[in-house]
Amino acid sequence: RGERCLMSNLSSVLACEAARGPLHAAAAAAVAALAGAATSIAGLIRHQGDAAGLGAVRGTENADGDTQKALDVMADDIIASALGKVDAVASYLSEEQDAAIPLHAGGSVIVASDPLDGSSNIDTNVSIGTIFSVLPAAGGVLQPGRNQIAAGFFVYGPQTTLLVSFGGPVIALQLGENGQFHDMGWQVRIPDVTSEFAINASNQRHWHKDVAAYIGDCLAGKDGPRGRNFNMRWVGSLVADGWRIFRRGGIFLYPADRREGYGAGRLRLVYEANPVAFLVEAAGGKAIDGAVPILDLAPADLHARVPLVFGSAKEVDEFAAYGS
Ligand code: F6P
Repeated sequence: RGERCLMSNLSSVLACEAARGPLHAAAAAAVAALAGAATSIAGLIRHQGDAAGLGAVRGTENADGDTQKALDVMADDIIASALGKVDAVASYLSEEQDAAIPLHAGGSVIVASDPLDGSSNIDTNVSIGTIFSVLPAAGGVLQPGRNQIAAGFFVYGPQTTLLVSFGGPVIALQLGENGQFHDMGWQVRIPDVTSEFAINASNQRHWHKDVAAYIGDCLAGKDGPRGRNFNMRWVGSLVADGWRIFRRGGIFLYPADRREGYGAGRLRLVYEANPVAFLVEAAGGKAIDGAVPILDLAPADLHARVPLVFGSAKEVDEFAAYGS
């Protein structure tokens, strides 16, 4: 499909996908609406910043118990309203909403989203983003990520970008001055081997044995069992740490740990881990919960958490061996 289709910008990518059949046309329409929403969110962040109080705490907790910031709520409203205009979208699942929002009775796809990922970085001028997953409506709200028709994430950073896959290759696009997302011209392929890990090391005392042993061996560097030095990066926005790993490889870990409420890690399966895992596998990497591929897990509920380890295939295998 890559050869037959023009991939110079998002419109041509979506036209190509839409031609594959009704379900793909529905997914393409949803992604077009999400791109419009993301363009508005990027504009809000770029032009208004502190003036709009985007990082102001709203005083409520979302369905996961996280404190909502003003931009979380604004982004959620923008996305819900954009998807509300697409007849093909049956319902919208959001981190910011307790339950699915029904949109169009005859719709053939469901969109799940973390409208604003990296909330702790709002107002710090650090990259944040929007993550999304498009599923067949026929599968219901709780279906394994393997069923995704499309998934991707936008990053609002030095560049506004989109990584998206419809099951084929991951396409990297950048928002231009003309308001269009154009192909960035690189083949998104996560290198198999890496010497860079991403983990919130402040949780070290809470880690389980396998994570502590794996990170310990990375830190031991050239003289340790891994025989080479490792670098560490932790932005604290999944989209930013993810984007870097798609670009140059790496391993990301948000494992389960001993803190109360972190028995299944922090990240949410339906609208964070699943879309990222879909992209990771499409780019030749691996994404697991420590042992099992993320995409094979059946979500127990809309806001279920999952331990998430993803990135360079050989390094993810290396980590998994510590648990066996
Ligand atoms: O809630 C999601 C998130 O903000 C991710 O974007 C990020 O990877 C993670 O949480 C950061 O968590 P912590 O603050 O515990 O390092």
